[in-house]
Amino acid sequence: MNDKLAIIGTEAEEKISGCRSLAELEALRVLYLGRKGELTELLKSVSSLPSEERPSFGAATNRLKARIGELLDARKSALSAVELESRHSQEALDFTLPGRQSFAGHRHPLSQLLEEISDIFHGMGFSVAEGPDVETSWNNFDALNTPQNHPSRDMQDTFYLNNDQSLLLRTHTSPVQIRTMLSQKPPVRIIAPGRCYRRDAIDASHMPVFQQCEGLYVDKKASLADLKGILNYFAHQLLGEKIKIRFRPHFFPFTEPSVEYDFSCLFCGGQGCRVCKQSGWLEISGAGMVDPNVFKNVGYDPETCQGFAWGLGLERVAMLRYGINDIRLFYQGDMRFLKQF
Ligand code: DAH
Repeated sequence: MNDKLAIIGTEAEEKISGCRSLAELEALRVLYLGRKGELTELLKSVSSLPSEERPSFGAATNRLKARIGELLDARKSALSAVELESRHSQEALDFTLPGRQSFAGHRHPLSQLLEEISDIFHGMGFSVAEGPDVETSWNNFDALNTPQNHPSRDMQDTFYLNNDQSLLLRTHTSPVQIRTMLSQKPPVRIIAPGRCYRRDAIDASHMPVFQQCEGLYVDKKASLADLKGILNYFAHQLLGEKIKIRFRPHFFPFTEPSVEYDFSCLFCGGQGCRVCKQSGWLEISGAGMVDPNVFKNVGYDPETCQGFAWGLGLERVAMLRYGINDIRLFYQGDMRFLKQF
């Protein structure tokens, strides 16, 4: 038996020192030390020896096992060093090749605009509220006093997500008004920016995905004059002191009275030009005093609170501000366009 150990020892030493790769070495480790390896098998046969021989044979086998383990480890570190070196020489860098230019991204003009808008409203005590793009019909329409037969609820206009039309991609940011009022008591001062979705055909001024920034103010007292003051201050901060603002009567289900608001034309200063179609005014969006029905829907008492709200199309304002004539440019990811801002 001890002869057998000696033979295995010599053979292992030769094979290990002659081994040329880590993979080969691993195979040797399995061969000698693995669960089905030669030494393990030998140890199993100890029971067939006469009992006085067993201890010394067991000890000798274990010594050999340890010895082979050491040889394997030593060979492994030697081979690793060699393999690393040969890999390095194969992968050597050619420092004479021209470098690759690294690509720095650029902040999107709509993100920049939104940041400016948020800053202006922060300054007036408004905070930013957010709502999900997937909205309930109740938040998007019903709670906003928009009846079942209102045209904007039509399948042709809205992306519904289920058959009973209880879920949809929000068509405006106004449902964030509802979410906010359901979750807090007055006073409320929020702006709510975000994506909106409508079944619009794509052209220079329409995209099925676009962005709005909603505003909502609720307190014990609030008036249309306050709304006008806030929008006026906002226009001055964003576009300059010369900008004038005007209200035109309009209808929205969730405000009463409702208006559309215009800024005086940035391009001609109100004289009349091609951009403002000679009117001197640029249509911005809608606004109004929060309808008492909306207050009732969120559990506010219309007798003790008043409020106003307004919308704003982010792309529209950016297009006016920067003189961009095609809304699609915002969504094409063309760096030549984006880098200009
Ligand atoms: N949600 C309206 C739209 O998408 C815009 C709007 C009008 C928002 C009047 C308001 C508002 O908050 O009071 O056309």
